[in-house]
Amino acid sequence: IHIVEDAAAGGVVVADEIQRVLEQADDRGPVLGLATGSSPLSAYQELIRRHREEGLSFADARAFLLDEYVGLPDEHEQSYHRFIRENLVYHIDLPEERVDSPDGTAEDPHAEAVAYDGRIRDAGGVDVQVLGIGSNGHIAFNEPGSSLGSRTRVVGLTRSTIADNSRYFASPEDVPIQALSQGLGTILEARRIVLVASGENKAAAIAQLVEGGISARWPATVLQMHPEVVVVADEAAASRLE
Ligand code: F6R
Repeated sequence: IHIVEDAAAGGVVVADEIQRVLEQADDRGPVLGLATGSSPLSAYQELIRRHREEGLSFADARAFLLDEYVGLPDEHEQSYHRFIRENLVYHIDLPEERVDSPDGTAEDPHAEAVAYDGRIRDAGGVDVQVLGIGSNGHIAFNEPGSSLGSRTRVVGLTRSTIADNSRYFASPEDVPIQALSQGLGTILEARRIVLVASGENKAAAIAQLVEGGISARWPATVLQMHPEVVVVADEAAASRLE
């Protein structure tokens, strides 16, 4: 657990983790697991800086997103695929076609979910997975009650997540009510996991993640079963740790 002063300091820790994977990858090439949302933004900004100023290269990498809203095409302003292109991919040398996400417009989203897990497996699995955490303890869109062994699937969003995300949409009614999300079991297959959190509203979730019992009530607690998890929290997010 790294308790950091602010988002910029957290971004450096997360960027270090990703840089290590980029530099130590075998012939298969580095496989990154990327999250959207506000939490990883400082890390992405730091990676863009290292690419521009220090020549850090993503040319051999590929990336998989955690989740995507059902019903939003790639180019929709609020699609997660667009988010990651605008906040990271367009600013580095990661080839756009090597960034994969569950297809929110797939005719059969259930089949797409199964296919997505297959695509991650075929790539050799994720080397480092970046995660944010919801105020209710969700990771990706695995809301409280999600099976701890769940795979990528279609999920309904809870009222609290719709409320949290409505700041990005014109009104709460515009927020999609379903997403395609990597499952908790899928996420646990990543070789290393880096979870980043900032702000007081994440404090309860971080306390459960680090000190609570493993329970589907707080989905992130499943990470306690993974051998290599790095938690990067600012002081507000860490404020309820004993
Ligand atoms: C994003 C994702 C979500 C967010 C979480 C925190 O791909 O899967 O689980 O990580 O909702 O969101 P922020 O970082 O915006 O507070």
